[in-house]
Amino acid sequence: MTKAQAMSTYLTEENSEDTVIGRIGEDCDSRFRQIMESAVRHLHAFVKDVEPTEAEWAKAIAFLTATGQKCDQNRQEWVLASDVLGVSMLVDAINHRQPTGATENTVLGPFHVEGAPHEEMGANICRDAKGESCVVTGRVVDIDGKPITGAKIDVWSDNADGFYDVQQPGIQPAMNMRGIFTTGADGLYRFRTIRPTSYPLPDDGPVGEILRQLGRHPHRPAHIHFIVSADGYETLTTHIFDAEDSYLDSDAVFGVKPSLIANFVADPTGSARWHVDFDFVMKPAT
Ligand code: BEZ
Ligand code: FE
Repeated sequence: MTKAQAMSTYLTEENSEDTVIGRIGEDCDSRFRQIMESAVRHLHAFVKDVEPTEAEWAKAIAFLTATGQKCDQNRQEWVLASDVLGVSMLVDAINHRQPTGATENTVLGPFHVEGAPHEEMGANICRDAKGESCVVTGRVVDIDGKPITGAKIDVWSDNADGFYDVQQPGIQPAMNMRGIFTTGADGLYRFRTIRPTSYPLPDDGPVGEILRQLGRHPHRPAHIHFIVSADGYETLTTHIFDAEDSYLDSDAVFGVKPSLIANFVADPTGSARWHVDFDFVMKPAT
């Protein structure tokens, strides 16, 4: 073996990333190769920048292990890690570059469930009789303002105590604060719920510990989640945020976008305490 060959065969501090990348087989899928080469280069650059002690590296491995062990059917600690580090919102931003005028996306979060009940327009999705009543109205339109008939609006939010139904099985009624509405010919939608409340992310795991060590709080500003879908349009996953919430500028998952902040006003009809109106503008499917 020549000295030059040995330099790329045996790993040294100087050649570490090239040596690892050099082991990738010739028949490796090209996209996977691109992803792994970049991951190895950035990971080695990070280690060379930080120069961790062995104790620090063991701590990092313990964090990764605990994060995996915290996951089960109802808890996704890895998604939480991605959320609080801003990676979920970055992936979202890259994948949903919107033309001017289309409603912006934001994080899905871990609390959406399939199979929410289909409701008549105007129905109340608050099934635990708690909280301050609120009517939510608006229209689903295309980027030219034309109403979209038959759009599905899948809605969910936390209850007045700041928990989703799936976090409190047996305490909250099943499907509390969830429903699916279908727009008519005018693109209008209307339902009853409560004015949403801010809530902390589950912070009893390794991600909560990281937040504490970083001096960050775990709260999300009050919001209502929506997935809006219609034939011929890109599915929109978004929230509307309460303009008066004190956590708007420090959302633990960086999900707030100014265009998604809405004003909750006293309901002029008196049928509920609050009213919020928000139009969803859909982007054509590509
Ligand atoms: C949520 O809004 O439901 C959520 C989003 C990201 C992490 C945790 C919860
Ligand atoms: Fe939420």
